[in-house]
Amino acid sequence: MASDASGSSTQPPPPGQTPPPLPSLAGLSCSKLSPAPKRQRAADAADDADAAPSAAPDAGAAPSAAPSAEWTVTQADAKAWFEAAGEANTIGEGVYGETRQAQACDRWVAIKRFLDDDRAKARTEAKTEVDNHLAVWRRSGDQCRQYISEPAVMEFETEESEGTYTVQSLIREPGLSVQPFVKVRDRDYRLFRGLMPQTSTDYKIKICKAYGRMRACIAKAGVAHNDLHLNNVLVLTNYPMDDEHLKEYTDWTSVLKDEKRDAIEIQWRVVDWGLAQVYDETGPSEDRDEICWRPKAYAPTDDAQHDSKLGYWNQNGTCIPEKRDEITSRLFSFLFEGAEPSDCSGAKTERDCVTVADVHQWVQEAFAEALGKRIPDDLAAATERKARLGRRARGFPDGGGASSA
Ligand SMILES: Nc1ncnc2c1ncn2[C@@H]1O[C@H](COP(=O)(O)OP(=O)(O)OP(=O)(O)O)[C@@H](O)[C@H]1O
Ligand SMILES: [Mg+2]
Repeated sequence: MASDASGSSTQPPPPGQTPPPLPSLAGLSCSKLSPAPKRQRAADAADDADAAPSAAPDAGAAPSAAPSAEWTVTQADAKAWFEAAGEANTIGEGVYGETRQAQACDRWVAIKRFLDDDRAKARTEAKTEVDNHLAVWRRSGDQCRQYISEPAVMEFETEESEGTYTVQSLIREPGLSVQPFVKVRDRDYRLFRGLMPQTSTDYKIKICKAYGRMRACIAKAGVAHNDLHLNNVLVLTNYPMDDEHLKEYTDWTSVLKDEKRDAIEIQWRVVDWGLAQVYDETGPSEDRDEICWRPKAYAPTDDAQHDSKLGYWNQNGTCIPEKRDEITSRLFSFLFEGAEPSDCSGAKTERDCVTVADVHQWVQEAFAEALGKRIPDDLAAATERKARLGRRARGFPDGGGASSA
């Protein structure tokens, strides 16, 4: 199925850890402006324009800085790359799109083909996603860009009937594999590998806080992602995804080897900006000193749904929370619980009986800190109350008081 224009072989990417061999598509056209020269030219231009202030901060999708190093890709090139990559390089396939990886024009790219039967709708969806993705990218500094891929500016020069494609940088890191969070979580949890629960509490807290910092970056851009599910949040990881690799990590009873304790890297990434909402402002209002975490019409008895939907206050004092966050609550089972909820009757300190609410708290703390804001008292109280209830349910000997507000 794979037609490989460069003549190199296209191996199916192994499910394992090392970066898979990718087809080199160097033989194909590299667009009117190939990315590398254009990046250089744009960087030079940015240097020249250093002293010139950019447009006023309400200038639509790109208010924070003049786009400095962008690359443009045509539909024709994207389609050619997608087809040359072949099915063997498919890395994601759903109802809405198929994504393939390839090396094109000196870059590792992810090319997404939009599959909606309604071709006009597919085109609109792609344009929206590219606009959103570009907005987050342009509004983010280097610290925050590390969590996302770099979108190409897409040209939509073809007829809709010829298909619709987008291109972005491939998230990858030598020596690590990139996985949708759900895959690592399922391998560790459903298949009873249970490696993550064997790492130290300090290490797990670091992983939770890193996720909170990534969430803060999205808010900092003045964007709600709105679709933070287990397949759209990726991890770069050395987690052993096959049984051969697992042997390096555990002894034959599945106990994590000492040298591998706290050595399972989990670096967060987020993709898929199709449902994102880009707001006028480029981040939280300076006027509010606390993070926002619930819409205004919130009933105090109904906090369960809101404590990880952290967002930001806009300039009008409206809280713009994320719509969903499947990650924070799954982090608890991933990191702490293994296959069975543990009994806490023998626990000496609260740290020996971590609850889902504690995980929420670490995410909240890192989120607040990264935005320079504090956790509001009502959220802190709600989280603490839930932690206490959670510990009690597992027999933690804490002497009561669980129902106080
Ligand atoms: N830049 C990227 N680098 C590495 N992998 C990526 C990248 N973009 C997407 N992927 C992989 O492809 C999968 C699908 O991508 P994406 O979520 O953008 O499309 P989709 O799920 O088909 O769209 P939708 O969620 O609208 O159905 C992701 O879960 C991820 O595994
Ligand atoms: Mg997706």
